[in-house]
Parts: sequence; structure tokens; C-alpha cells
Amino acid sequence: MPEHIKVVACCRPFTPDEESKGLKNIIKISGDKLIVEAASKEQSFGFDGVHGHNETNARIYQDQCEQLLKRSFEGFNVSILAMGATGAGKTFLMTGSEKNPGIVPNLNRSLFQHMATKSNKEFFITVSYVEVLDEKMTDLLNPHSNPMKVRQHPHKGIFVEGLSEIVVKNVEDLKNMYEQGTRARQMGATDVSGHRTRANSIFTITLEQKEMKTSRVGLKSLIRLVDLAGTESGGSADPSILAGVQGVPNILSILGGQGKGRAVPYRDSKVTQILQDTLGGNAATLVFAVVSPTDKSYQETLTTLQYAQYAKSVKNSPKMNMVSDMRKM
Ligand SMILES: Nc1ncnc2c1ncn2[C@@H]1O[C@H](COP(=O)(O)OP(=O)(O)OP(=O)(O)O)[C@@H](O)[C@H]1O
Ligand SMILES: [Mg+2]
Repeated sequence: MPEHIKVVACCRPFTPDEESKGLKNIIKISGDKLIVEAASKEQSFGFDGVHGHNETNARIYQDQCEQLLKRSFEGFNVSILAMGATGAGKTFLMTGSEKNPGIVPNLNRSLFQHMATKSNKEFFITVSYVEVLDEKMTDLLNPHSNPMKVRQHPHKGIFVEGLSEIVVKNVEDLKNMYEQGTRARQMGATDVSGHRTRANSIFTITLEQKEMKTSRVGLKSLIRLVDLAGTESGGSADPSILAGVQGVPNILSILGGQGKGRAVPYRDSKVTQILQDTLGGNAATLVFAVVSPTDKSYQETLTTLQYAQYAKSVKNSPKMNMVSDMRKM
């Protein structure tokens, strides 16, 4: 059954730096609406949910993502994307801090809690973590210089050839892999403001399961957790930079906006090749539109909200994925 991509807006609090500069707040929340107030004009945007600055990532996870995790146990692919401008709070939402863990650590904990309640089932879990920056892919779990390629396989679906896939057995294993990869992202940074914001990072959990003692047939779900490049950084003339930062917004505007009916140029960028199922395909997708509260980010905020509006009318067709020969620990 086709279903719309779910889109939820999140607005972070002021940072201490923004406070000290005396920037103004331009964001108001009213139910499922986010209202941008600037230059004596109000623009209102409706979403499937809206979270303001006083909500923890754990709360946002519970309200918006736990449902999706349940669907992954039913064999559906699930994707959660954070979209927004530089400094809007994408990484804080997905990764979080020690005191306020993000979507990924919350999902990790819940994933293994669910598994513990299903004692009649066998599970097999792997993770991979790839960063796409200016059309170059980096394997964050095992940095190497071997070539990697996005491929499509009749049974395996879309995958990155050459990307490490690591088996994880418990919450700690998964946490360690995610943290190790996230550190590799940060270490690779050369110029913090201009460069990192163009990176897209995709952490994929593959969940396979079957009834114990029965046939080998089971269910398989890909859970993709994505921290996208900044939506505003499209001003460059370099085609590989443009492809990386404009790839996903472009697809959203074609599938959900003016471009409806046109051929969808997934192949124009690596990130959209990898996320083909996430955007208009075989996955239940949630897009977080992440915005900063300040007047300084007015233009970037409107850009993000415009793409988020397109995302709302994109239709996906998630299917239950069977595997005939489940892998084993
Ligand atoms: N919910 C929040 N609570 C407190 N601080 C936050 C929150 N969200 C974001 N911040 C802070 O705001 C700043 C920008 O956040 P973050 O690094 O997550 O942005 P980003 O969208 O990932 O930016 P970039 O595109 O540069 O990677 C950071 O200092 C972060 O700690
Ligand atoms: Mg970030």
C-alpha cells in the first residue's frame, strides 16, 4: 500500500553564542504547525508533528520513531532522515550528547529490548556506516582506499560494494560501531564550517529474523539513519559538490513538487543512489525538518521548510521483505 513520507519539524534551543549575540527568535509552534515570524509576516507550515526546544531527543524518538522500529520487526525497510541547514541541529538530533542521546542511541536501545522479548525468534544484525562527501564515499567503520560502488542486486537490493558490514550482537556492539564511525567523520574534518556541512552520513542497520527451529525463511529490514548535508549549501558551481548537497532536496522536489511526473534522477548523485528506496520506493520514511530558532537563519529555515513540504507529498511503497536463506551468527 502506498503511503506518504512522514515529515516532522524540530526546532532546537538557542545556543549560548546566539544568546550572547542577542539574536531574535522567529519560530512559534502551534499544534502540528510551525510558524515563522519575520519582517511582520507570518508563514505557517503544517507537519505530521512538531517539536520545540524543550523536548528531549528521547521524547522525539518515542513519539515519532518507535512506530517505525516496530515496522522493521515486521520486515519493512525504515528510513529516518535529518534534513536542515548548517548548524540547524541535525547531528544533535541523530547523535545527541551524553545527557541527551539522539535518535540513533535511542533506537539502538529499543531494538535490543524488543529482541529480548521475542525468545521464539532468531536474529542476525549487521551495521554499516558510509559518508558521502562531494561524491566520494568513505567507509566510516573501516576507512580504506579500495574503490566502492553503489550497486543494485535482484535479491540484495541496493548496496555499496566494498563497504564493511559488521555483525553486532548487543547494544554495546552497536553503540561502539556508531561512535567509532562518528569519530571517524569528525577526524576527517579539515575545514569545519565549509566542508563538513556538505557531508551526508548513512548508518544502516540490517535486521534479519526468523522463527526458531522452522524453515530458513525469514524477514529482513534495512534501517537507514541519515544525517544529510546542509540544505542551503547549494551555491557552488562544482558539479560534485552540487550533486552531494542538492541530491536529496532535488529528488524531494521532483517527487513531491513541481517536477511531478518527470524522470527521477536518482543516478545523479551517490547519496540518492543509496537512498533510492528511501525516497519514493520500498521503505517507510520519516524526514525530520530541523531548523534553528534565530532570525539570522531565516532564509535557510524557509528553504528547509519548503523542501519539507515537498517531502510530505512523496509516496513510498514499503513491502515486507522475505529472505529465503537467513545469515547466522
Ligand atoms: N536540541 C538541542 N539542544 C541543545 N543544543 C542543541 C540542540 N540541537 C542543536 N544544538 C546545538 O546547536 C549547534 C548546531 O547543532 P548541530 O551540530 O547538530 O547542527 P548540524 O545541523 O548538524 O550542522 P552541520 O550542517 O554543520 O553539521 C551545536 O552546538 C549543538 O550542540
Ligand atoms: Mg552536523
